[in-house]
Amino acid sequence: MPLWTGRFKKQLDQQTNDFNASIAFDSRMAKQDIAGSVAHATMLGKQGIIDEAESEVIVKTLKDIAAELESGALVIDMTAEDIHTFVEGELTRRIGDSGKRLHTARSRNDQVALDLRLYLLAEADRIDAALVRLLTVIGEKAKATCDFVMPGYTHLQRAQPITFGHHLLAYGEMLRRDRDRLADCKKRMAVSPLGSGALAGTTYPLDRELVADLLGLCGVSANSLDGVSDRDYVLELLSVLSILMVHLSRFAEEVILWCSWEFKFIELDDAFSTGSSIMPQKKNPDIAELVRGKAGRVFGDLMTLLTVMKGLPLAYNKDMQEDKEAVFDAVDTAVICIDTFAPMLETATVLRDNLRAAAAKGFINATDCADYLVGKGLPFRDAYKCVGQLVALCIDKGTTLEALPLTEYKAVCGLFDEDVYPMIDLDRCVEKRTVKGAPAPQNVLREANALLESLK
Ligand code: ARG
Repeated sequence: MPLWTGRFKKQLDQQTNDFNASIAFDSRMAKQDIAGSVAHATMLGKQGIIDEAESEVIVKTLKDIAAELESGALVIDMTAEDIHTFVEGELTRRIGDSGKRLHTARSRNDQVALDLRLYLLAEADRIDAALVRLLTVIGEKAKATCDFVMPGYTHLQRAQPITFGHHLLAYGEMLRRDRDRLADCKKRMAVSPLGSGALAGTTYPLDRELVADLLGLCGVSANSLDGVSDRDYVLELLSVLSILMVHLSRFAEEVILWCSWEFKFIELDDAFSTGSSIMPQKKNPDIAELVRGKAGRVFGDLMTLLTVMKGLPLAYNKDMQEDKEAVFDAVDTAVICIDTFAPMLETATVLRDNLRAAAAKGFINATDCADYLVGKGLPFRDAYKCVGQLVALCIDKGTTLEALPLTEYKAVCGLFDEDVYPMIDLDRCVEKRTVKGAPAPQNVLREANALLESLK
């Protein structure tokens, strides 16, 4: 039975009923729906809006229902319109008229807004825990590879020497910001809309703050129309997840490149790679590719809800029921991506010699070579030009700056001497980059330890 019988002479058309119903997906929020009802009923009793003894019976029965759902003793009736209908129906089936008093001074409009806030708050914690797991892997891996010299790139062209650990910690920073954004979005999520009623508040003397307190929320919404119409917290979470997926997708893209024969910087564990049905030699980074692909799916979820919300007049409109599947999908997708990425990264072998070999080609010590001349008093712009000529010479001769004889150096600029060679040694080039944020192994070790410490 729907909650809205009375003025209707006919039952809802069957197909229309299925179209309208949301139980198939909002049953996920059963626990939060019951928690919200427990708080509401407690408050109704305290305020004398319903009899206190009745309130106690309602609360006790709701808790029984929650426990039975948890244990599996009670199964949600999937023919109910939505989770709110199911819970209220089950309560009334058990305690009769008292159950019918639960919905006093409440609408499903403020109820569903509350449920979704509570549900997503818990989901935000689930996402955060996954991020901590991935960040731990990044921190540990960065420590282990803090002195693995590799080329850093711009325009996907070898640019300057860095360390593998430093490269990993760049992703660590992105994911740290994702955690910050998540925490910030939770602040606005943790607000109780209950008491907004259908749209215009209520005439009952509610204690809205008590309900918020009981649910561990930080405050109550200030405007009843906004209370039932606001889905910013869903959009914010979807935005946070979209940015997070941008980060994972970029990381995935690099993993894919690094696995190729062209780079061969890492080797994925067999347990996290797949083969080809026809090409016996293949070992594919499918997991990373799926993560990259699933980013599109999460962006789609954000677009779905932005589009659903953009033209809605105040206050509640049924369009808003479309918020749930989109955000549930985005959360599930993000968590499975993080949880699969973490062990894939953890078990990957970083091929130090190949990183080193790539660093040796591509003149990534050219800036250091110019800095050498700057140290001898030459203005940087002139030094830059000299080294440019040397690089051109090396390309012509098929050699490297490290191997170029001193006579060739001197022919370009008289300031060059034997001491240029240690200055352009790749390990030294990296070791000298000790400024805050730079890739020197000691920096990477310190930053990786700080990251791991911050996760405790
Ligand atoms: N299933 C609905 C939703 O998710 C619950 C709110 C129903 N409110 C209403 N006025 N029909 O939005």
